Amino acid sequence: MKIRKAIVMAGGSGTRLRPLTQIVCKQLLPVYDKPMIFYPIATLMLGGIRDLLLISTPNDLPRFQQILGDGSCYGINIQYAIQERPSGIAEAFLIGEKFIGNDGVCLILGDNIFYGPLDFFRAALHHAFGACIFSYPVRNPEQYGVVEVNAQGKAVSLEEKPAHPKSNLAVPGLYIYDNQVVEICRSLHPSARGELEITSVNKVYLERGQLKVIPFSRGMAWFDTGTFDGLLDAANYVATIQHRQGLRIADLNEIARHMGYI
Ligand code: G1P
Repeated sequence: MKIRKAIVMAGGSGTRLRPLTQIVCKQLLPVYDKPMIFYPIATLMLGGIRDLLLISTPNDLPRFQQILGDGSCYGINIQYAIQERPSGIAEAFLIGEKFIGNDGVCLILGDNIFYGPLDFFRAALHHAFGACIFSYPVRNPEQYGVVEVNAQGKAVSLEEKPAHPKSNLAVPGLYIYDNQVVEICRSLHPSARGELEITSVNKVYLERGQLKVIPFSRGMAWFDTGTFDGLLDAANYVATIQHRQGLRIADLNEIARHMGYI
């Protein structure tokens, strides 16, 4: 089964980036020379995904529609849905139930930037069964979902922002699920911070023995832009690569032409 649909989660209140996020939501802030949301959309397009559902707050959704439209100028199809309250990432699958239908679905967080060879992502999208998450070594795992793996690379535990992480492997905001994800989310209860956690979804797949963890190769860059430093690091990285190569990262027009979408 090839995954052909993706949900882009661009909600949340961006509290760590105030006062910037009192003017515009996090995922529309600039990362060097373009809005943050272009980067995750570029990742999906390069993965071969052309059917997108973008979820955001009632306030911010019209701005995404303004900048991205229905996606037709990039040869993709973007639908939109509202998350009324910041009730967690996993609510995406309840909001997006109709969009998902009987299919599997990819989820990307609107504030996660990936750059590098995406062969691993394209291969993972051919995943037929269960869930697939990725891992990436970081110095500050306590700020992320953390996965602990055994010597065979199989997941043995998952924790959301643990005070004492069992490994240095963070789980980036890119996930691939089969259709069970909708039923799993219906059975979830909000965490202590009142959210339906994506890590809770992944834990159910782990308990069912259906969670695959793929390590990002060393050459991959992953930025979580949820903090001022993360935002600055990402912008500097994009500027450095662009100056060196003379190419633009996440240029949606260029990618659409490259992929033969337009
Ligand atoms: C979310 C997830 C976390 C994941 C992170 C990646 O955290 O809950 O598991 O590692 O995204 O960016 P948040 O940024 O919503 O705090």
